[in-house]
Amino acid sequence: MAKKDDKIGDWHEIVRREYEKIAQQGGSCCGPSCCGTSGPSAYALGYEHADLEAVPDGVDMGLGCGNPTALAALRPGEVVLDLGCGPGLDVFIAAKKVGPTGRVIGVDMTAEMLAKARASARSFSEKTGLDNVEFRLGQIEHLPVADASVDVVISNCVINLSPDKQQVWREIARVLRPGGRVAVSDLALLRPLPEALRQSVEALVGCIAGAVLVDETKAMVQDAGLVDAVFQIHPEYVDRMAHWSDPVYKEVLEALPDGTRPSDYITSLYVTAVKPQAALTDQVKELIAIGASVSANCHPCVRYHVKKARDLGISDHQIRQAIEAGRMVRKGAAGQMDELIGQLFG
Ligand SMILES: C[S@@+](CC[C@H](N)C(=O)[O-])C[C@H]1O[C@@H](n2cnc3c(N)ncnc32)[C@H](O)[C@@H]1O
Repeated sequence: MAKKDDKIGDWHEIVRREYEKIAQQGGSCCGPSCCGTSGPSAYALGYEHADLEAVPDGVDMGLGCGNPTALAALRPGEVVLDLGCGPGLDVFIAAKKVGPTGRVIGVDMTAEMLAKARASARSFSEKTGLDNVEFRLGQIEHLPVADASVDVVISNCVINLSPDKQQVWREIARVLRPGGRVAVSDLALLRPLPEALRQSVEALVGCIAGAVLVDETKAMVQDAGLVDAVFQIHPEYVDRMAHWSDPVYKEVLEALPDGTRPSDYITSLYVTAVKPQAALTDQVKELIAIGASVSANCHPCVRYHVKKARDLGISDHQIRQAIEAGRMVRKGAAGQMDELIGQLFG
């Protein structure tokens, strides 16, 4: 069994070289799970016939372990980013869902995968009339994407392949706009793997040795500042992905204690989470307080909040706008009171 080098650069290089081969040969080296043409048909992972109909031939290489575009519930007009897009299966499906007013960006570090994806983009455009996909070469630990520019991040069976998963989650939080969401499928562990498997390069590229415990993923999502996180495990997908003739699958079976199955250890994991809306600044809070103080006719409150606003550097012009907003509320309330008194007393 080959030994896994701990260094991040070497890890990237090992993974990149294997996916280069898969892109060129149509794949063969990889695991029982997501990473190779021996993987499951997209149908086994819950993809809809209608979604697959529009995708170009050859982009479903059986490299996924879930269905992130369905999980994300994409809407027309959204900007979507697919981490580790490979030949582009989920990019093309997402592109149909977000339509001509939306956009989908796929990022992958393997140039040969992107070459396949870009070639497919041309036939996708001819078939659908859509011109809303873009592929960028880059690592998911350092995304070539601007801050707060994306509505939805998706990813399918890739984060387990990263040597720095915490950094990937930080990058997801950076590129999402406030209120944006992430929907990821990946492989994760239900319990630690035997050491022999953790050291196997084949199992790493096969999306197994690099996988971490579900609880570790939960901690990374939380540390990245994402909220409303939901984690769903699907060990049954691992059973569906199992190919007994696959060399990596055989290696996994041999390394596990007798009587146990890969799905006792490995699961497909769905993660959804949201980037919180930006908190109100102190300045905005003071302006709201001024408006509320005026509408409540509270003279000491107005004095207090106007002073605080000036201390925070808010201009008199903006303070007057807040006062005017409070006066309008007060005037409306006074008008309603006059009307009520009129109704009560004729
Ligand atoms: C298992 S395949 C999944 C491909 C695609 N998401 C799908 O479901 O068809 C993993 C892909 O992630 C890419 N990849 C792995 N590690 C990466 C990293 N650190 N940065 C960017 N891409 C990476 C590989 O080049 C490969 O194309």
